[in-house]
Amino acid sequence: MVDRVFDVDKMLKDEGAQVTEPYYQQSVLVYEQFYEKYLSVPGCMHFALNYDGVFDRKGFYGQARGVARQMERMGGASQVLEVGCGKGLNTIRLAQDHPDVSFTGLDLLPAHVEKARGRAADLGNASFVQGSFEPLPDDLNGFDLAFGVETLCYSVDLDAVCQSLARALRPGGRVVIFDCFLNERDGTHSQDMLLATRLLEVGWGISQGYRTPARWVEAMERAGLALHWDYDETAHILPNLRKLQDYSVRFYNDWKVRLQARILPTLGQRNAVTALLMPYLFEGAEDDEASPPGVSYRRMVFRKPVAA
Ligand SMILES: C[S@@+](CC[C@H](N)C(=O)[O-])C[C@H]1O[C@@H](n2cnc3c(N)ncnc32)[C@H](O)[C@@H]1O
Repeated sequence: MVDRVFDVDKMLKDEGAQVTEPYYQQSVLVYEQFYEKYLSVPGCMHFALNYDGVFDRKGFYGQARGVARQMERMGGASQVLEVGCGKGLNTIRLAQDHPDVSFTGLDLLPAHVEKARGRAADLGNASFVQGSFEPLPDDLNGFDLAFGVETLCYSVDLDAVCQSLARALRPGGRVVIFDCFLNERDGTHSQDMLLATRLLEVGWGISQGYRTPARWVEAMERAGLALHWDYDETAHILPNLRKLQDYSVRFYNDWKVRLQARILPTLGQRNAVTALLMPYLFEGAEDDEASPPGVSYRRMVFRKPVAA
């Protein structure tokens, strides 16, 4: 289906291209007129975490709840940074629930920062800055906790990003990551699964490809941060992924839907590729072309030693 509509070879020519900004610029309608309107909640650019296997919009606050739990476990926090905060959904929810904590959100795209600022206009404890986490601006430091939801996968230089996060934390501080990771390639994945993973990376503009959890742990350790927790959340995003796939099937099967989608630029249209492939990529396949899943969705927590 993907090849018929998008031409797989043509898509793969874009492997490795640095397209973070154009991808989000060309996907505005997809996020705002489709995702936020029919599936998620205003300002949301990530997957819902549904722990009972049933899709529910409340799941879009699951990542913020996970960050709040880390804040509690470390005995409270006073300064929290969200990298790649998008339109601010997580930071705003956390700031509303923790009026005594100061939150800073950082995002690459001026349009995202502007929307986050607009939505947080009434909040005195949340501010947003435009910039890259690659590296973080020098004046962002002394944080008790830094987190990123579905954003650090865009890192080009993994070591530089980990060092930058480590520098921004106070001793004893933590980094929380919710993101997609590559499953170890052990020779058991089917050719289809390997190809689908590459299409996922091209479709979302992940220029360096997803990394395995082990590569993240090694890079964080080189930066002086130790793994505290690694939790596979894949099962919890599947209800959301199946909803997205249901919508995308209409795109492939109905020429009228495809005609409407032609108002989208190329990178925006490619969201139909990732939406179609994701349940397969995250669940694997048990049929003739059996394969373990190519990627996983995880929550990883790292700690900076107190005596660092
Ligand atoms: C999938 S969206 C997630 C947004 C937000 N974390 C959320 O949960 O709704 C990824 C975000 O990462 C941002 N991003 C990508 N690369 C970045 C970088 N190098 N520095 C800062 N933000 C970045 C994008 O602009 C986008 O807003």
